[in-house]
Amino acid sequence: MNTFGQMIERGHERVCFHQDADTGLRAIIAIHSTRRGSALGGTRRWHYATEEEALFDVLRLSEGMSYKAACANLPMGGAKSVILLPESGLPRTQAEARAMGRFVDTLSGDYIAAEDVGIDPQFIDWMALETNHVMGGETVASGGDPSPFTAKGTFNGMKACLQHLGRQADFDGMTVAVQGLGHVGMDLCRILHTAGAKLIVADINADRVRDAVDAFGAEVSDPSSILQAQCDMLAPCALGAVIGPDEIRRLRASIVCGAANNILVDPERDAAALAERGILYAPDFVVNAGGLIWLAGLWLGMSREELDRRNDGIEDTTIEILERARSAASPHHAAIEIARQRIAEDPASKEETVHAG
Ligand code: NAI
Repeated sequence: MNTFGQMIERGHERVCFHQDADTGLRAIIAIHSTRRGSALGGTRRWHYATEEEALFDVLRLSEGMSYKAACANLPMGGAKSVILLPESGLPRTQAEARAMGRFVDTLSGDYIAAEDVGIDPQFIDWMALETNHVMGGETVASGGDPSPFTAKGTFNGMKACLQHLGRQADFDGMTVAVQGLGHVGMDLCRILHTAGAKLIVADINADRVRDAVDAFGAEVSDPSSILQAQCDMLAPCALGAVIGPDEIRRLRASIVCGAANNILVDPERDAAALAERGILYAPDFVVNAGGLIWLAGLWLGMSREELDRRNDGIEDTTIEILERARSAASPHHAAIEIARQRIAEDPASKEETVHAG
């Protein structure tokens, strides 16, 4: 399908391609929606096999950001950007980041860039030398690494799952399997361990596994079998597209609630299949919104108390979505429905924005 066809199907407002002759930067910014406010979304730095793949990724991810922001009830839209690397593993440079910053600046604040795969706070700070419309840096831009807030929000989503099943939000003696011990996964383990949960962990990085064993007494699983671990709850916190029909048949957890973006291979099909098997699934883009709440909230000028209140609110939002899902095909469908309703509402009725620049 051509670009306009894909934009029409997904409802995008704007897709911008850019090349910078001096640095060789090639990048795309996709703004899905600004109906609820400026659109914040990460910049992904990746080597794509084809331009079509890059376009597909940025369109899909930016649409997801609109739903994430709307479910979190933030007065923000949804967008994402990708930098197309000519080959994988190319080291980042200040010149490249600054060229990307200038590109972001051309959108005059409709798009606020942030971190995603392949981008760190230093890259953000270099971008911020060229634009004010970027979050997640440590020196020039503000916000820093949002992962601790993502982990906290995911834990709030887990509490909601327990409540929905009529259980106490009590992790004492519960077993949680965590796939991926990166920024979010390790912090989630810390929170779960403090709450009394037993942990089963897997990561392809042996050092991280050793750290989790030392710090939390975690049981180790092979990365190839973590999804089939005997546990109460499974938390995918590594890559996306890890749960499809085969995995669903073999899951032994009764709850799936994790931070990874796009956990399900085909969200509509797989969320319905999980529901059919009686496995409770908390939509990833609802429970992993803590990082977005943190960066968007700071952008909007919210106080620390307000940011914490909104992160805690992920629990109620998840409960509401799981309740709605009783009369929908799945929690995924219920969450998308709520998000689309909010986006379609009269923009004048959206929350007041307090722009902090
Ligand atoms: P990260 O890159 O710090 O950690 C990912 C971890 O997964 C690494 O330790 C890596 O070795 C491990 N891993 C990769 N493949 C694996 C496999 N097959 N089996 C087991 N472990 C594997 O990433 P981060 O920031 O912790 O994010 C984790 C997930 O959460 C990603 O999907 C990300 O898109 C999503 N997310 C992160 C947010 C944040 O605030 N950092 C916000 C929202 C979503």
